Amino acid sequence: MRRLLVAGNWKMNGSKEQAEQLVTALVQGFSGSDQVEMVLCPPTIYLDQVAGLLNGSAIGLGSQNSSEHEAGAYTGETAPAMLLDMGCRYAILGHSERRTLYGEDNALVAAKFEAAKAAGLTPILCVGETLEQREAGETLAVVAAQVGAVLARLGNEAFAEAVIAYEPVWAIGTGKTATPEQAQEVHAAIRAQVADSNAQVAERVQILYGGSVNAGNAETLFAMQDIDGGLVGGASLKADDFLAICQSANG
Ligand code: 13P
Repeated sequence: MRRLLVAGNWKMNGSKEQAEQLVTALVQGFSGSDQVEMVLCPPTIYLDQVAGLLNGSAIGLGSQNSSEHEAGAYTGETAPAMLLDMGCRYAILGHSERRTLYGEDNALVAAKFEAAKAAGLTPILCVGETLEQREAGETLAVVAAQVGAVLARLGNEAFAEAVIAYEPVWAIGTGKTATPEQAQEVHAAIRAQVADSNAQVAERVQILYGGSVNAGNAETLFAMQDIDGGLVGGASLKADDFLAICQSANG
């Protein structure tokens, strides 16, 4: 059985004070579980603060992005080794907001994925189609190309010690969630694609669903065979909601 993972992507939200309140409430409310791991991905500027607040707790830390470079003259960027140094275990890569707003393509995301793994971070690779692509019947092809770019660059061990998050772009921040069946179809296709190169890795890799996950819909999504948790945006900014989502993962 795969352990479930529920990661909160705060995006560019919060303040020092809000981070302290939120993390304090989560640490009090979540004592750890064999069935689910909770991870927080605050803005880079608050990683150190959040790492301090999480110290000794059962909650993990991740970044929202990470450079494809190891070190050097890359103003404004954060190297994977720096994130590890700050206490991160995970790095969200290729989020649709980075792909659309910051021009990250499959090749760049694969380069970031490789650099993150080389530094010892566990990448959370985000994939997903736009509404236009879904309506054109291109969902599985788009997602296969996004996953395939990483397989092509890293080979058949690419997703050992890595996580994939299926986030349909039309479901992000819109209140529209993919139905459990729609999500399961894509998750199963992703797992089959990984299995084509490595069956053992495919069996172990956690595939998260993201896109308007909330306390009301998490349980039915997480009950699907190939949905191994969630990548949560808006609802991860509210302690009660995020705790309830993690609680649903507990079954
Ligand atoms: P929402 O949960 O706000 O839809 O955001 C999902 C997301 O983009 C997580 O990475």
